[in-house]
Amino acid sequence: MALILDGNRIRDQIKSECRPRVEQLIAKGRAPGLAVVLAGHDPASQIYVRNKVKTSQELGIYSETLTPPESISTAELVALVEELNRRPEIDGILVQMPLPAHVDAKRVLLAVAPEKDVDGFHPCNVGNLATGRPGPKPCTPAGIIELLKRYQIPIRGKRAVVVGRSDIVGKPAALLLLHEDATVTICHSKTADLPGVCRQADILVAAMGRAAMITADFIAPGATVIDVGINRIDNRDEVARIFRGSAEKLAAFDRNGSVLVGDVHPIDVAATAGAYTPVPGGVGPLTIAMLMVNTIDSAERRIGVC
Ligand code: GUN
Repeated sequence: MALILDGNRIRDQIKSECRPRVEQLIAKGRAPGLAVVLAGHDPASQIYVRNKVKTSQELGIYSETLTPPESISTAELVALVEELNRRPEIDGILVQMPLPAHVDAKRVLLAVAPEKDVDGFHPCNVGNLATGRPGPKPCTPAGIIELLKRYQIPIRGKRAVVVGRSDIVGKPAALLLLHEDATVTICHSKTADLPGVCRQADILVAAMGRAAMITADFIAPGATVIDVGINRIDNRDEVARIFRGSAEKLAAFDRNGSVLVGDVHPIDVAATAGAYTPVPGGVGPLTIAMLMVNTIDSAERRIGVC
């Protein structure tokens, strides 16, 4: 039986480690402060941002959400970020991606002060990560490493294959695994013999945003499989196809109008992997936990606790 890597349990551990750090900061003068910028109405982003704010509140982190209209220009968004850069009580600034299509996202991310960049997306911090210098690490990849370490899954000397080359997950996940002494391959849509390359992996990270694409023939028996995908399936036939007619999943679809599935095939991974992250309840909760850690790290540096 494959071991299920429980992201909710590790998230709770990380949150309980955050609490005394927040209390210490409050005793020193003020709570850490996080500003989240959500432009437009992307439904998934709205849910992510709500959860980020809720978790901040649970930990005593001050947070505010700025919701400029979908029509905001790049220059206006840059000005909004610059205003947040100037506010002393704000330690972390997160600009939720994706931004509206007409906005130059790279320019906006460049405007975030590197010392308040709790996503680790500013090119300064990308450079820090690439060259092994201290700095914030992108939250989802950092969560993956936390999960592997806390489940004592060896990384050093292991073959890690990352499928997906995004700036948010694939590239930084590959760098973090490399810094942990894994032998790392990054794959993408043009990779020749993708199943064959994936089958080489002791640790397989699926982050390409394609529902249930990683089937049994991509997974070496006993591998650790980390599923970063969150895909909402709102077509009943598709649910029946992916879940091979599962009455339970079809009933869930009939109740909710959709079901979630990762980038990894949920039935195949349970039958083939040695350990895997479920969707939901795997990597997702860790992204928010690591955002809290990055915000507290930033506040500690800025207030002078560490
Ligand atoms: N969109 C999807 N994941 C993320 C993330 O980790 N940070 C931000 N800012 N946007 C995202």
